[in-house]
Amino acid sequence: MSEITRIGVLTSGGDAPGMNAAIRAVVRSGIYNGFSVYGIRRGYEGLLTGDMTEMNLRSVSNIMSRGGTILNTARSKAFNTQEGIERAKNMADIFRLDAIVVIGGDGSFRGARDLARVGVKVMGIPATIDNDIGCSDYTIGFDTALNTVTDAIDKIKDTAYSHERCSVVEVMGRDAGYIALHAGIANGAEAVILPEKSFELNNDIIKPIIDCRNRGKHHYVVVIAEGVGDSAKISEQIQNITGIRTTTTILGHLQRGGKPTVRDRVNAGLMAARATELLKAGVYNRIIATKGEQIVDIDIEEALNMKKTIDDRMISTSKILSL
Ligand code: F6P
Repeated sequence: MSEITRIGVLTSGGDAPGMNAAIRAVVRSGIYNGFSVYGIRRGYEGLLTGDMTEMNLRSVSNIMSRGGTILNTARSKAFNTQEGIERAKNMADIFRLDAIVVIGGDGSFRGARDLARVGVKVMGIPATIDNDIGCSDYTIGFDTALNTVTDAIDKIKDTAYSHERCSVVEVMGRDAGYIALHAGIANGAEAVILPEKSFELNNDIIKPIIDCRNRGKHHYVVVIAEGVGDSAKISEQIQNITGIRTTTTILGHLQRGGKPTVRDRVNAGLMAARATELLKAGVYNRIIATKGEQIVDIDIEEALNMKKTIDDRMISTSKILSL
């Protein structure tokens, strides 16, 4: 039987639509499983300072459809030191937290692993719009962000079509191109540029645009992930070389907000419920993940060593589909 009776929950790193649905599910399923549940504010910052309060079934009413996170989030510099980890453990002891559920991305899970190494029991739930967590096929927030991006590019394409222009659209993804690649396919981009793959302006952008023009196209979309660099400069180069009027749109933080989609709500609910179910069974230091449609759990040390790579077939298919 589990010795765990009191758990904390926090959101950390960049926010993602669906984090609230995950908080709600941790609180509801946690209470169902017999735990008291503490909401920790501002991620690891709140753990360091003891900024936490007990939540009840009604504390999480009417939050599932809201973007962002009611617990707030942060990237804590103070926590990211050995002293910070020890202080956080001490605060977990002061509040008699038997385990902490961390909702966030890779950086947040590295923090959770550091806590696990000093004896704090943890559980991780992947939430980031970037979908770049090695151990999980899917991360909460990705679908909502993609729908936002797709909707935005549809609108940009309307005006690009009318004016016969080229639209360069920069999407989020400092280190990961999953948003860019999926949006590229969903929006029929003539070129998609990702941080994981080096690119050559003439071969990967200019030539496809000119070829498409010669095959009868009059408007073009180039999707660039944020981590690639200066999208405005690339835009200028496209215009200078092709003579096609080229605009730049940086979608920015628009992509991180908004109502979570059904996919994000359902994943948040199922992942969080699995997290508290495992804690009840006395299992901890795991990351909840998806493998295809299945919800699985993986040892946190092992999970952090797993790598996910861009599927090259998706890149080649995206090129074929925009011919
Ligand atoms: O949450 C992931 C992410 O959106 C990345 O794609 C992006 O590079 C980063 O966060 C930006 O974070 P912030 O706006 O918090 O600096």
